[in-house]
Amino acid sequence: MTLAIQARGLTRRFGAVLAVDSIDLEIEEGETFALLGPNGAGKTTFISMLCTLTRPSGGTAVVGGFDVARESLKVRRTIGIVFQEPSLDDLLTGAENLRLHCLLYGVPPREIEGRVERMLRTVGLKGREGERVRGYSGGMKRRLEIARGLIHRPRILFLDEPTLGLDPVSRRAVWDHIREMKAAEKTTIILTTHYMEEADGLSDRVALIDRGRIREMGSPEELKRRVGGDIVRLRGRVAPRDFAGLDFIREMTHEDGGVRLAVDDAPRRLKALLDRCPAASEVEVRRTTLEDVFLKFAGRPLKNGEDAPGTDEEVR
Ligand SMILES: Nc1ncnc2c1ncn2[C@@H]1O[C@H](COP(=O)(O)OP(=O)(O)OP(=O)(O)O)[C@@H](O)[C@H]1O
Ligand SMILES: [Mg+2]
Repeated sequence: MTLAIQARGLTRRFGAVLAVDSIDLEIEEGETFALLGPNGAGKTTFISMLCTLTRPSGGTAVVGGFDVARESLKVRRTIGIVFQEPSLDDLLTGAENLRLHCLLYGVPPREIEGRVERMLRTVGLKGREGERVRGYSGGMKRRLEIARGLIHRPRILFLDEPTLGLDPVSRRAVWDHIREMKAAEKTTIILTTHYMEEADGLSDRVALIDRGRIREMGSPEELKRRVGGDIVRLRGRVAPRDFAGLDFIREMTHEDGGVRLAVDDAPRRLKALLDRCPAASEVEVRRTTLEDVFLKFAGRPLKNGEDAPGTDEEVR
């Protein structure tokens, strides 16, 4: 196992605010890792320290084999960054922004045009590359930002809220591209998000972060299992004894007019359940989401009541 990232007691204070509170974390090469948490949880601050953009108040971090404090230049050469704050040059065209970035990152000059072409197609900006970025829409800027983070083919890629503010079509295109990068280049990807679908559908592992600390960590499936299973409600002629001996049922309660079950991976078990109660008249399945996981381990909801577009979508 080779580690892409190793953080030990990583901490950052801003005055009285403890933005990141002594985080220990190891991420393997090739992993896609999501930090999921509400606004102000410390996501951006944490990855800014890994990217050498923010100095830690305490602790250490090694990224791509280099220490973020002592070898920041080498860290920067190893990583790609797509951050929340736009950092494009508004007065340059889309293509010029990409070329400039290639030069800064030492892409061999004869490869630059080819890569620019390919990236423009990937993010759906081909045909608009000759226009100044100033005239781009928010979504176009975001996609150009992503193209720029990828074009020098970093070994480790940091994406801070990669699809914030994108329409559903662009969001899906970005998700697809992240999956392709992972498959083709074995890029290690660290992303932050407060969309549970994004964390769920893209990542090998998710860390739930709240108030500067990691509250729980694991694969999306593991995390959901820790909550206690999907909920299946059956109504009509059905009783708990119908399900005796089914080992995938974790909890069974009698409730008005039927039975409530907690079940691991309910969609896969549904047939077996219905076979046991052919006279049931109604069935309802509610899958556990990372939202439930967050509520259980952080003790409060993931959403802060802000508008969260795209939460009705699934990443598939
Ligand atoms: N430069 C700064 N100066 C002062 N306080 C800061 C600074 N940057 C972050 N903070 C504080 O640190 C805490 C964590 O902020 P951070 O931006 O890391 O959260 P986040 O999880 O990325 O939130 P969001 O989802 O809104 O992007 C917040 O309380 C924030 O106000
Ligand atoms: Mg942030």
